[in-house]
Amino acid sequence: MIKREQILTQNPWLTDVSIVESSQSTQLDAKDDLMDKKLFIADMQTAARGRFGRHYVASKGAGIYMSLVLKVADDIKDYTILTASAVVTAIETLTPKKPQIKWVNDIYLNQKKIGGILVEHLLSSQHIIIGVGINFRQFDWPIELRDKAGALFEAENPTITRGALIAEIWRQFELLRLRQQFFEIYKAHSFILGQTVEFEEQGRTIIGTAVDLTEDGQLIVHTNGLVKVLSSGEISLKKWL
Ligand code: BTN
Repeated sequence: MIKREQILTQNPWLTDVSIVESSQSTQLDAKDDLMDKKLFIADMQTAARGRFGRHYVASKGAGIYMSLVLKVADDIKDYTILTASAVVTAIETLTPKKPQIKWVNDIYLNQKKIGGILVEHLLSSQHIIIGVGINFRQFDWPIELRDKAGALFEAENPTITRGALIAEIWRQFELLRLRQQFFEIYKAHSFILGQTVEFEEQGRTIIGTAVDLTEDGQLIVHTNGLVKVLSSGEISLKKWL
């Protein structure tokens, strides 16, 4: 079981940590409460969502499912970039693994998605909810996800606990937030730069080369002599290098 004290001890900046066995979605738990810097964790979720409202598989005990409430100041341009940087740094601090980031919010390991970040801005307040999902141990994926989804510990017993990784992710998050030095980490872990990518624009499929990232998280793509600046949306890789 994930230990609340372990997370709070390593993260005195958090105001509270709530851990439940089951939740519809920790994003909803966080939205219902809105206490600044409170972290909501669930052992499983019954209606977890990713970006674009997509279903997110969140089965019991297999992953890390958590959402943080944050009253935002204007000092950080993009919380997805910050959170992704904190996740990869935490994994590298506690394990020998080499996670990567697929623009903009996906965490990859060995060419499979092992996690995702969902930052939601509430229109009615200055709060944001930062959701993080990580596939921690191997799981029997639905058939359509088997080629794409992986886990941090795929064919081996985990060498760390979920609690230790959760505590380290938020410790890194706060360190990187204060130092404001996370963009370089994000860029260094981003595997799409230099690659051929495909994306949709007004219903058309466009192919180009991802050449750079801007500090507020936009992707610069060269296509047919044009420079496109993508601010969100979905890209897919034509192939792995
Ligand atoms: C994505 O892959 O598009 C983002 C996935 C985010 C999943 C996390 S799990 C905790 C929180 N609760 C949710 O319903 N979603 C986020």
